[in-house]
Amino acid sequence: MLGSSGLPEQLASVEPTWSIDTDIVVLGSGAAGLSAALASRPARTVLLVTKDSLDAGSTNWAQGGLAAVLDPNDLIENHVHDTLVAGAGLCDETAVRELVTEAPNAIRYLVGLGAAFDGCASDGMALSREGGHSHRRVVRAGGDQSGVEVQRSLEMSVRSAGVTTMEHTIGLDLLMGTTPEGTRAVAGVRVAQLDRSGNVESVGAVTARAVIIATGGFGQIYASTSNPPSLTGDGVAMALRAGVTATDLEFIQFHPTVLWSGADATGQQGLVSEALRGEGAQLRDGAGLRIMEGVHPLEDLAPRDVVAAAISARMAEAPGGVDDHVFLDARGIDRFDERFPTITAACLEIGIDPSKDLIPVAPAAHYVCGGLATSLDGATDVEGCFAVGEVACTGVHGANRLASNSLTEAVVMGTRVGRSLSRALPAAVLPEENLGTRGLLDSARRDDVRTVMSKYVGVVRSPAGLAAAAEVLEELGRSTSTSAPATQQSIEATNLLTVATAVVTAARAREESRGCHLRTDFPEARDEWRRSLNVTLQSGRITVG
Ligand code: SIN
Repeated sequence: MLGSSGLPEQLASVEPTWSIDTDIVVLGSGAAGLSAALASRPARTVLLVTKDSLDAGSTNWAQGGLAAVLDPNDLIENHVHDTLVAGAGLCDETAVRELVTEAPNAIRYLVGLGAAFDGCASDGMALSREGGHSHRRVVRAGGDQSGVEVQRSLEMSVRSAGVTTMEHTIGLDLLMGTTPEGTRAVAGVRVAQLDRSGNVESVGAVTARAVIIATGGFGQIYASTSNPPSLTGDGVAMALRAGVTATDLEFIQFHPTVLWSGADATGQQGLVSEALRGEGAQLRDGAGLRIMEGVHPLEDLAPRDVVAAAISARMAEAPGGVDDHVFLDARGIDRFDERFPTITAACLEIGIDPSKDLIPVAPAAHYVCGGLATSLDGATDVEGCFAVGEVACTGVHGANRLASNSLTEAVVMGTRVGRSLSRALPAAVLPEENLGTRGLLDSARRDDVRTVMSKYVGVVRSPAGLAAAAEVLEELGRSTSTSAPATQQSIEATNLLTVATAVVTAARAREESRGCHLRTDFPEARDEWRRSLNVTLQSGRITVG
């Protein structure tokens, strides 16, 4: 049992001055949260809370599409097989089958809501291919604007379905109560309304019979990520503080190809979609040599963990003197600018014309394969608390997510959770005073978390690096206090610290290499580690077992 101490058990903030009651509160407004809100709304009152505008989450940035078996020559069994292979022995096969079987219905559902996928208006859906897929089965919109279309169609439907939305409002802590049987259960959530600079304008108590956490991942624990700035792990941190169990947190997927725009670039980096490799683009090192040749039978279309690891290894050799990026040769792709307008615009901004030049790329944090442990109906191990989408772990992704399974999962599972809650809600409980220790991390320390995570807990992890990261995070945990002012920035910094500590604790415990978790001291997968690691926060200490 490894542990790390000093984390706040609740955020320090002002007391609520207003309250609202609703059947269901959804935290987060990407594909998962919107799908859950939409599916539960006919039968329930639903309040959807999001800390920025509705479209500021990851969904809107997704270039890759939605994986589903729609080609008559493809089979459900093929998609199941590819997902299990990518997941490196840790997928829950029941969850995978549910996802894959429901995926074609999810696409038809979105089309019914008005989503205009490529080809769907003419002679059938245009299907593309990405890493780890044995067949063409990725549905896209606008070439590389799939997420925008999914977000647009769901948002429009949520608004017309009568879901109440509250933007620029951040979830702080779950309100807890006790059931008549004496079990701790969720009674709602404390939220803070923010002004445009991130100052807290007011704090409110939202009482609800069910809280659905759909806040997405936490790529922002790293200095360089494909995730937008809002992805700070608020949902995972909040749930950990309430006693919810998280699992598989050490499996952070690094996308092999984000646009490398300079050695000092930090924050959100432009994605260079895997669809380019699906159309024949090849990875080359600084000396012009192919990287994936001979590494894996699928070469440039190998699963993402394999490609990211191969790029990292090649960069470490510094061919041609280049040690912090490699190149994607996409010059053979016809009508590149028409087919991939977002990537073209991002490349042109740094002076690269992808039809003539090699695109400089590097791996960056992209997707959290683990999350809050849930059933297929989104239930966590704390009554009244549900989770769906990237914040949750149903076991679909195992140790490495198959490309384009996540938007599909968000819609399939979001709809499933919403429908299940529209049939039955947990009993109401009254909120009680939370006696846990309070604290906040000074927002000025936020970059300390991100720097140490990128330096020591990236694609390849060494025992010394993980120990160094744990030490820095422990010191940051000790520095949390009730005197730091409660702002969006300090709330997010505290959540980043909590989640980073959980990731490092799990990564230190897993003594093997599997999927996205690569350890220099244990370079192989080990049979005794073919199991998930559960993480909890108890008395300010992360424990894993
Ligand atoms: C991509 O387009 O490469 C990203 C797709 C995904 O992460 O599923």
